[in-house]
Amino acid sequence: MDIPTKNTRKILVTQALPYANAPLHLGHILEAVQTDIWTRFHNMNGNQCYFFCADDTHGTPVMLKAKEMGITPEELIKDVLNDHKETYDLYGIKFTNFYTTHSEENKKYSEKIYLEAKKNNLISKEIVEQLYDENEQMFLSDRFIKGSCPKCGAADQHGDNCGVCGASYNVLEIKDPISILSGTTPIKKKSEHIFFDLPQKLEILSKFLHESKLQKPIKNKLKEWLSDDLKKWDISRDEPYFGFKIPEEDNKYFYVWVDAPIGYIASMDNWFKNNNLDTDTIWSNKSNYEIYHFIGKDISYFHGLFWPALLSSANLKLPDGIFVHGFLTINGEKMSKSKGTGILAKDFAKICDPETLRYYFAAKLNDKVEDIDLNFDDYVQRINSDLVGKYLNIASRSASFLKKNKNNLSDNINKELITLLINEKQNVINLYEEREYSKLIRLIMDLADNVNKYINEQTPWKKDLNDAVDISSTALNAFKIITIYLTPIIPNLAENAYKFLNLKNCSFDDVNTLLNGQINNYESLLNRLEPLIIPEEDNMENKNIIDIKQFSSIDLRVAKIIKAEDVDGADKLLRLTLDVGELGTRNVFAGIKSSYKPEDLSDRMVVLVNNLAPREMKFGVSEGMVLASSNDNGIYLISPDKGAEAGMKIK
Ligand code: 2FM
Ligand code: ZN
Repeated sequence: MDIPTKNTRKILVTQALPYANAPLHLGHILEAVQTDIWTRFHNMNGNQCYFFCADDTHGTPVMLKAKEMGITPEELIKDVLNDHKETYDLYGIKFTNFYTTHSEENKKYSEKIYLEAKKNNLISKEIVEQLYDENEQMFLSDRFIKGSCPKCGAADQHGDNCGVCGASYNVLEIKDPISILSGTTPIKKKSEHIFFDLPQKLEILSKFLHESKLQKPIKNKLKEWLSDDLKKWDISRDEPYFGFKIPEEDNKYFYVWVDAPIGYIASMDNWFKNNNLDTDTIWSNKSNYEIYHFIGKDISYFHGLFWPALLSSANLKLPDGIFVHGFLTINGEKMSKSKGTGILAKDFAKICDPETLRYYFAAKLNDKVEDIDLNFDDYVQRINSDLVGKYLNIASRSASFLKKNKNNLSDNINKELITLLINEKQNVINLYEEREYSKLIRLIMDLADNVNKYINEQTPWKKDLNDAVDISSTALNAFKIITIYLTPIIPNLAENAYKFLNLKNCSFDDVNTLLNGQINNYESLLNRLEPLIIPEEDNMENKNIIDIKQFSSIDLRVAKIIKAEDVDGADKLLRLTLDVGELGTRNVFAGIKSSYKPEDLSDRMVVLVNNLAPREMKFGVSEGMVLASSNDNGIYLISPDKGAEAGMKIK
């Protein structure tokens, strides 16, 4: 396919929204890098391409995680959002907007799309029987159930499949079920659920499969699902649930997978509003925007079936394509916390320049749904050989001759070599467009090999200064072209290379212009990588072990409760005023209301974590934490022995 160089396509791109209950791992970065490269490429090629994302904030895991941490879901998602933004930033991921699904815009579009679907007779109700945890007072999805396999009897199996005999079953069939939330036996309980009529959308989905850009195996899989017995989709969840209430219903919430993809639209809407663009026009059937979703293979069903079905039921534009990638393995193994391969993206950035990971991922990525392996030895070898040994070597070896000429370039250059590089521009563009990054890198490194060969053959070190400057100026022109070709992949490194060449950031059009004037002194743009060693403390397996220094950094103090009060609007919290001796008083919110009455707590001695960062809560600032243990029967405050006085340090 030949794509014209100069065009002004308008393109909206998204990547899957990361869940707001955990930090990002390297798998998230793989997808972000794939998408970011594509977006940057389009913008460098004269198109208007926008990259949207958000945190996926709703659902049971976020709710439970917040509960476990003793904070509200809103507080949790706020902290995680900041952390996610910081992490993507480290890897040079340039979003047009990174938003949250817990937003007014998302509520509006979720309600709107649902009500449209309802108006179009796509919504119905059915009674569903599920397992219910009476202790936690909540319905349990499969992942919160363990029990014995109904087929082979193996104990301790998952809610919906057996790891021993491989059987799949309905969670209601599992023998001796146990709720993993409370350790109690759940009961069966019925409740009314709301369903979206997916089968009615069969025709539209078949058309979508036919017309949109999808990889072959994904198209086949979706076809297979379509020709199977399509079922209505259960889109409601009962309380307690962290999410949006379904309009015109009592206490029913949208299942997180309804408002998650609508979060794509909401993130755009949030940005469009401030940029004079109209969301409804852009998402209408007459839109002149192209829309593409980058996702991992595990969520193809949601994006290939549910999502277009939802969009079409509200008469909105369907995506022009869905680009699916495989999973990331590390040193040949599935990412796993217990094996130490569940490496957090922030931890990895501490041991390695993130720009080099972008390059490595690009060198492995293609348009297939294949898994990608990050092999540490291969990684170091690849960066040292390609980026340092081939690409940057051109600049460093040429700069020394230019320096002898006061950094003045010559315009007497070897046209043949430069034309060879310029002539590859259309190939480079096509490979970016087709997401064939690995082939693209091979092509660019072949060009770098050609340039190094040219320098070796010309032997500038044996020539007089004039000739050496001509040769080096040729090489630096080639370096500039290669830098332009690599910019979407290594944007920060490229920016430094442009500074060295005395250029502003370039577009693909600039491939055709020659360098002139003066360059700057060359300073090393990237050091050779040493073998990668993930520090022990960054290995998740050992995350629970702390040394004495870390322990001593926690300032534990004896404190006396001088006042305990209920908190308006919080059913689990008490507000404690603590006397910490010479250190004064502290205001602490403690999640102990289920086990303590405020009036029983006066004068009680407790243990305070005194140097915990103050936490802004809805009800005020919490200035520490009191220690307590808990089991199914209740919460137990920890107290010092008799004689301890408020303010004493605990060591
Ligand atoms: O699988 C996931 O990580 C989901 N949070 C992806 C959601 S993508 C979109 F539909 F919102
Ligand atoms: Zn079994």
